Amino acid sequence: MTPLLRQVLSQIDGPDPRINEVVSALVRHLHAFVEEVRPTEGEWNAGLGFLIETGRMCTAHRNEFILLSDMLGLTSAVDAVNNEGPEGMTPSSVEGPFHSPAPERQPGAWISNGPERERGVPMVVHGRVLDCDGMPLPGAVVDVWQANDTGLYDTQDDTQDLGNLRGLFTTDVEGRYWFRTIRPSSYPVPTDGTAGRLLEAIGRHPMRPAHFHYRVTATGYRPLTTHVFLAGDPYLGSDAAYAVKDELIREPVPRTEGWGMDGPYEEIEFDIKLVPLDWKEER
Ligand code: BEZ
Ligand code: FE
Repeated sequence: MTPLLRQVLSQIDGPDPRINEVVSALVRHLHAFVEEVRPTEGEWNAGLGFLIETGRMCTAHRNEFILLSDMLGLTSAVDAVNNEGPEGMTPSSVEGPFHSPAPERQPGAWISNGPERERGVPMVVHGRVLDCDGMPLPGAVVDVWQANDTGLYDTQDDTQDLGNLRGLFTTDVEGRYWFRTIRPSSYPVPTDGTAGRLLEAIGRHPMRPAHFHYRVTATGYRPLTTHVFLAGDPYLGSDAAYAVKDELIREPVPRTEGWGMDGPYEEIEFDIKLVPLDWKEER
């Protein structure tokens, strides 16, 4: 440890022990970074300028810091240390920046009600919300949101009304939910800010594989934020947000009838297993 680092650490002595612990670790890692990288003063100032610009880009509807955290795998790392659970639980995955309030909808409702419905591949998505022993959870709330067939969310696209491709569903007595929609497309994360510049500089593409977002809540269970990814997507192995987990990938099954559909469609089944709030790992 350098004398300077020892001196900085020795002065961290606030009233909150957790803050002391967090700031000390941050200082240790930052000093180690400087020792390893030996940045020039110009590089250090460029780095600070990058963070200042990131802050300036943030608005009520856009948070470039969250995007940076996603693009560096940090959001997924924080997700991993906070969402352990028993065998069989549905894994969590990052929320991303596009969640917004969804309209309540009845079982089987179409969540696609914009021009994409004419162009897109129809899909039926269904499943059950269960506990980790397979017991159904009636009255669970399933909040879903997705991009359209061109990769845009309602909040990014003037051709869609707000609430399009979103829905809040409540599970029935058997824990079931279902909805009708169109196949989402893979899409690039916003690249017009500092996160986009960083991706370009490190030679990384901005694409996310096609997915549905889920946020599922049930009384007595840990809320779950997760994704369902579509098998076969070319970006499954290189998601810009590092959010893919094998257990979350589903193969769309081509169908010609059923679920009140007229004409060909694809079916996805996705059961969700929630973790009780009082779950503790046995060590
Ligand atoms: C998304 O899927 O909505 C998303 C997640 C992380 C970064 C950007 C977008
Ligand atoms: Fe998304």
